Amino acid sequence: MAGLRAFCLLLGLSFIGSAYGQGIAGRWATYGKEMWNGHREKAVIVLKQSGDSVTGIFESLTGKTAVHGTIAGNHFEIFAWDPRTPALTGDLVNRELRGTMFGKPFLAKPASPQDEIPKVEYVAPPPLHKVPYNGLAATPPMGWNSWNYFGEDVNEADIRAAADALVSSGMRDAGYIYVNIDGTWEGSRDSEGHLLPNRKFTDLKALADYVHSKGLKVGIYSSPGPYDCAGYPTSYGYEQQDADDFAKLGIDYLKYDWCSAEKIYRDDQIRAVYQKMGDALQATGRPIVYSLCEYGRENVEKWGADAGGNLWRTTDDIRDSWSSMIANVEKQASFAPFAGPGHWNDPDMLEIGNGGMTGDEYRTQMSLWALVAAPLLAGNDLQEMTAEAKSILLNKEVIAVDQDPLGKQATPDRKGDLETWIKPLADGGATVGVVNLGSSAATATIGASDLPIAGPVRNARNLWTHEDVKFSGGAYSAAVPPHATLLLRVFVTPNPPTQSRVSPVY
Ligand code: GLA
Repeated sequence: MAGLRAFCLLLGLSFIGSAYGQGIAGRWATYGKEMWNGHREKAVIVLKQSGDSVTGIFESLTGKTAVHGTIAGNHFEIFAWDPRTPALTGDLVNRELRGTMFGKPFLAKPASPQDEIPKVEYVAPPPLHKVPYNGLAATPPMGWNSWNYFGEDVNEADIRAAADALVSSGMRDAGYIYVNIDGTWEGSRDSEGHLLPNRKFTDLKALADYVHSKGLKVGIYSSPGPYDCAGYPTSYGYEQQDADDFAKLGIDYLKYDWCSAEKIYRDDQIRAVYQKMGDALQATGRPIVYSLCEYGRENVEKWGADAGGNLWRTTDDIRDSWSSMIANVEKQASFAPFAGPGHWNDPDMLEIGNGGMTGDEYRTQMSLWALVAAPLLAGNDLQEMTAEAKSILLNKEVIAVDQDPLGKQATPDRKGDLETWIKPLADGGATVGVVNLGSSAATATIGASDLPIAGPVRNARNLWTHEDVKFSGGAYSAAVPPHATLLLRVFVTPNPPTQSRVSPVY
């Protein structure tokens, strides 16, 4: 995925440089847009030609991948990940590559030594051991993250405004306490190796103090590789120094994103690499929530907690669409046994309020994230929230399901278009969500005897209409519109302590 991002960096870029020799063989260089730290995006494509076959390597600051293709006359077609659609297609004209990359124009010229991607010295990750639990994230972390709405353009004023809005909207008091700065805050390192912010952030300490003054906590972002997914410098070779600097700034949460680390380490080294930062954070003595972001590689759910992680991404990046959201949450099913207080599966951030889904679809995201005990990190523009987005994010009954201290993750059971997720709760009751994955309304029936509850049903509540509903003959039925979720919380009258958890009798 980081590799795909590397290629995407080239979209809309103009290429410069010059290749050598005849044909397409040679080193081709590209420079893209100027970044916020004054550097330019760049990539080098090294190609070999044999007859009309072309093979090679594409390398940017953030990733590296093998490519292959053909050249017929002057026309080339070069493939990377997608075997059906060429990543690069165009013509070799006057010793320049001109054409399209993912449908957008590009131009490449031969590379000079200055164009090379900087090499870094390999530092082996440490031997494996278990990082002790830091005592944080007893329930899934809640807050806001800059990436889904602001992307690479986020600046200091946006972070302050988000902190203000968390307070004024009531979100802070509902539990959303982390204000997380995602990638592209980074500038470059000073002569002593300290990572300074780029020109969008003038004073990180003052910013962290401001966020703290609002009764909130502040998060930051880095990578175990030399660059983040957008090409900004990150923690490779500076792990302890960065952790110490984050602690001095007053950072409370670190998202650590694999990105260019794939150019340095093998996948089977991921645990050791994440453990290195887990140790570094603990050595600072400051409590810092540690969020692993490596898209679920190498069964992170099995070792994320041992690397010191409080949560770990299990999926590729979410997009603001129904299919992406559902795919991310459905991928959680087999990871349920690994979630619990202090260590959570992370199907990525909320898209609620970003405009790509309907109200029912966003209510479904909130319902499902609560059922799977996912971190609730809003990703919208908090200053311009619609009343509907606000009502979804601020549904305290749904938040309570997510934050239930038992920390159990629901798993799905699909029948036709209806998918049922059931989460046992600390009070002996349960929350059940029935999602309509189809395109027409369907009737959901919830049977009390199917619920993992510790006594007879006392009452049941629809968490979106905020009304009590009645089970009749041991069941409750209701119509569920397409892409909506029926979300019921069932409260029980606990059985006497000598009895074990049983299904209710009607
Ligand atoms: C990766 C992560 C995203 C975001 C971006 C920032 O794609 O998965 O959540 O942090 O990097 O570049």
